[in-house]
Amino acid sequence: MKGKKQYARQLLGVCTLALLCGAVPAHGQSQDARAKRAATAQKSDPAPTGQNWNDPAEMHRFIDALMAKMTVKEKIGQLTQLTSSWESTGPTMRDSYKQDIAAGNVGSIFNAFTAKYTRELQKVAVEQTRLRIPLLFGYDVIHGHRTIFPISLGEAATWDMAAVEKGARISAVEAAAEGIHWTFSPMVDIARDPRWGRISEGSGEDVYLGSQIAAARVHGYQGKKIGDLDSVLATAKHFAAYGAAQAGRDYHTTDMSERELRDTYLPPFKAALDAGAATFMTSFNELNGVPATGSKFLLTDILRGEWGFKGFVVTDYTAINEMVPHGYARDEAQAGEQAMNAGVDMDMQGAVFMTHLEKSIAEGRVSQERVDQAVRSILEMKYRLGLFQDPYRYSDEAREKATIYKPEHLEAARDVARKSMVLLKNQGDVLPLAASAKSIAVIGPLGDSKEDMIGSWAAAGDRKTRPVTLLEGLRARAGKGVNVGYARGAGYRFDEAGKTDGFAEALALAQKSDVIIAAMGERWDMTGEAASRTDLDMPGAQQALLEELKKLGKPVVLVLMNGRPLTIDWAAENVDAILEAWYPGTMGGHAIADILFGDYNPSGKLPVTFPRTVGQVPIFYNMKNTGRPYTADKQGQKYLSRYLNTPNSPLYPFGYGLSYTSFGYSPVTIDKKTIRPGEALTASVTVTNTGKRDGEEVVQLYVRDLVGSVTRPVRELKGFLKVKLKRGESRKISFTLSDKDLAFHRADMSYGAEPGDFSLFVGGSSDATAQADFTLTK
Ligand code: NOJ
Repeated sequence: MKGKKQYARQLLGVCTLALLCGAVPAHGQSQDARAKRAATAQKSDPAPTGQNWNDPAEMHRFIDALMAKMTVKEKIGQLTQLTSSWESTGPTMRDSYKQDIAAGNVGSIFNAFTAKYTRELQKVAVEQTRLRIPLLFGYDVIHGHRTIFPISLGEAATWDMAAVEKGARISAVEAAAEGIHWTFSPMVDIARDPRWGRISEGSGEDVYLGSQIAAARVHGYQGKKIGDLDSVLATAKHFAAYGAAQAGRDYHTTDMSERELRDTYLPPFKAALDAGAATFMTSFNELNGVPATGSKFLLTDILRGEWGFKGFVVTDYTAINEMVPHGYARDEAQAGEQAMNAGVDMDMQGAVFMTHLEKSIAEGRVSQERVDQAVRSILEMKYRLGLFQDPYRYSDEAREKATIYKPEHLEAARDVARKSMVLLKNQGDVLPLAASAKSIAVIGPLGDSKEDMIGSWAAAGDRKTRPVTLLEGLRARAGKGVNVGYARGAGYRFDEAGKTDGFAEALALAQKSDVIIAAMGERWDMTGEAASRTDLDMPGAQQALLEELKKLGKPVVLVLMNGRPLTIDWAAENVDAILEAWYPGTMGGHAIADILFGDYNPSGKLPVTFPRTVGQVPIFYNMKNTGRPYTADKQGQKYLSRYLNTPNSPLYPFGYGLSYTSFGYSPVTIDKKTIRPGEALTASVTVTNTGKRDGEEVVQLYVRDLVGSVTRPVRELKGFLKVKLKRGESRKISFTLSDKDLAFHRADMSYGAEPGDFSLFVGGSSDATAQADFTLTK
């Protein structure tokens, strides 16, 4: 408390002086507005103190005053972000970060957390720098902070926005209690190529689902209001089109039409912005020849110009420096100028602004006004977080202790995890496990592996002790009288293919068991950043072991843990059941057991298409029809858009997922066959739980625009609703649809719907068959 008052007094001193001096003009808003504010402030208001951080007028006065005091070097310091030595999330490291903070050269630190450590670093900024400007602490809190939720792709498979928001909320609560102000999340990149390892970090392939999730996550992170002690700033990343990397190779080039960019890749960013995302992060890729970090088109024209973004833009890790190898800047000084002039505000880890910007300003290649805009946008965020009032307000050890790993956080993680799992196959109702199964063999490298459970980008999640493995979860649930054995059997590393020395033990265990649970997939670090693959098979000797297990003639349940669609066509044919469990998080083992024993009826649906073979990639449900579509009535014909050796259809389509019960759909009815612009129609369907258990279904609405000034996809998701239906229960589900939902970038790039004929489809996956047709008139 004492420290707080003292800090406020110190700042008061700084700002009073600044106001009285009024010397250096602050930029970034109109000169008039600033002059007026300064005059009013001098006449009537007390000097701004940073105390009332909910008052925008006071914030502006405060920042004007503070900026009037700042040297160019101090301003550039605010634009610089460095990693602490705690963790590495990129290739380079600047060891001198503590000296850099003390010298006033750093505005933000990332990869540092805990109340104690953030306080320690904050103290350096606040006590050793001339202007005592507090640091902003950022961190990759992607799917949980300490309590880890399923990977983001898994959370997307819940199709449950309340669950997604809750995951983000709890992440924020825990992170904010450990001194973190800002998360580099949500990652809202549309990803349609499972070779790209970062598909695991996003919400999958679809624009509509991805946009809903982007908004839910931003709401979850930022809570009721920026500055609340249980919320953190969100970052919409990576802006933009990073997920479209050529050949699925990370950091690779993207090249696409502006229409594709605007119709497919940008909407989730806009949704994040509309939900209030405080910051944006640039992406590593070039887009149509210009690195995104130097793209004025993206960062200024679209983000600030068209969309009115008011927060600040941080680069990705050393992305400014990378404009040199991209071949866009001749050296880092020029790259810094390009980035700043394009609209970047903060340089993550590259130290380019720190090293070169002063000279660029002095020599007129970057305007002081642009720099001031950037500084202001960062100081505003610090102000809104209340850091000028109390720089240590997020670094409270007692709160930290009381907050992380709370039982309700763990319970929520378990709940979201079971909601995220997708039942891909369940032949002969082998699941849920029969009460008569008295011996269960858990086999495979993911059966008892704590470190894998939480997947990649697991923030401060503990990989060693906390995660509940599948084996532990099953044992905890199975109770007395059921023997759950374990054998690893096979390795999952790429270099373990052909290594069969564990097979005998696994087969012996399987032989004496009633049911085999094969826990297979990918090692946790095979997805995430810099984890691209050229095949999508289960790596190592897993497939070979699975085939041996099948030969025993026992029921085989494959539980997959992985961060991308895998090519599991053999398993889809040959094993009895498949449960896609993703990397389910800290409570993953319990969540899987909940499903395998039938305590929870699976309700997840795929947020991404599963191909039959990597050769089909990219494959996604809302493709174009082509001029030579390969339809059911033309089977076997040549000169059609098809493969000679594999069907066009995926192994499992987008939106697909089974339940332990079944659902029937009535024909779909619409209340109007024709709508005009501004009107809406209602499409209704009755969904019935036709099976023997209560369950949940994700009812999905798709639309096809039959003819356009540019061709339209064969289907586009336009709505969904997750409903709980008791056994035997029926419910009428209605969706409204207006011309706004039919909008796209037309031939002339204007945005809106086009009059014409449409079909809509309602069902439990993107293969939905209940159809109705309607017309949009002028
Ligand atoms: C690089 C990643 O691309 C980005 O997503 C992440 O936020 C930063 N590193 C910081 O760790």
